[in-house]
Amino acid sequence: MIPSMTPERVHSYLWSIGREWQGRGTAMELGCWLGASSVPLLAGLIDAKYDLPFWAFDRWRIDTYQVKEAKKQGADLIPGASSKSLYLQNVSGIYENVRAIQGNLPKSLENYDGSPIEICVFDAPKKDPVFTLCMKYLEPLFVPGVTVLGLLDYYSYEKHTGRQAYNLLTPIRFMEKYDDCFTLIKHWPELCSCAFFKYEKPVDWDRSNSVSYGR
Ligand SMILES: C[S@@+](CC[C@H](N)C(=O)[O-])C[C@H]1O[C@@H](n2cnc3c(N)ncnc32)[C@H](O)[C@@H]1O
Repeated sequence: MIPSMTPERVHSYLWSIGREWQGRGTAMELGCWLGASSVPLLAGLIDAKYDLPFWAFDRWRIDTYQVKEAKKQGADLIPGASSKSLYLQNVSGIYENVRAIQGNLPKSLENYDGSPIEICVFDAPKKDPVFTLCMKYLEPLFVPGVTVLGLLDYYSYEKHTGRQAYNLLTPIRFMEKYDDCFTLIKHWPELCSCAFFKYEKPVDWDRSNSVSYGR
């Protein structure tokens, strides 16, 4: 079993969005850790005859939080070590054409080839400046009416207070500001922080701020 930071129900949903791949663009995940969320998405994509590279971005540097989370799930990780080979080991049995880009987001996105994106999962960008910079980089490649954007830390602000909660509200502020550009298609408010959106139309990056946020 791959140690995971997302619940089983989200894995099932990732599998289903993979299966609905329409052949309109690539699939990518930003923040893959050991592959627990990439694997079900890839399994669905394979069912849909996905034949493009799967783009995986992470710094893959094990920190103490990851050591603790893995330990709870019966795995021993070494702090400071690279986890890229573990990730590749976990996904390569499922799909061979994985482009695993190791480095810090958003800079590492410079390695992306610029193809249209059909499925985009964010499980690393959750605060600014990283969240907005990643969105600015990738949103022009989204396909209106097609692209699914998963924000796996969307409600994570609820577990925090003060400045930390304010920072983690970044994705919520973004979605409130651009609520005509994205439609919420799935979330599990009682279970976890994950939410999925359909991209409807291009973002006007010059739009001024809205004031209210939260759920
Ligand atoms: C919550 S974990 C991902 C969990 C995984 N998706 C799962 O469901 O098991 C977040 C991952 O994002 C990576 N990460 C966080 N900030 C990053 C950044 N700025 N650049 C690259 N990777 C980052 C961490 O290394 C970590 O592996």
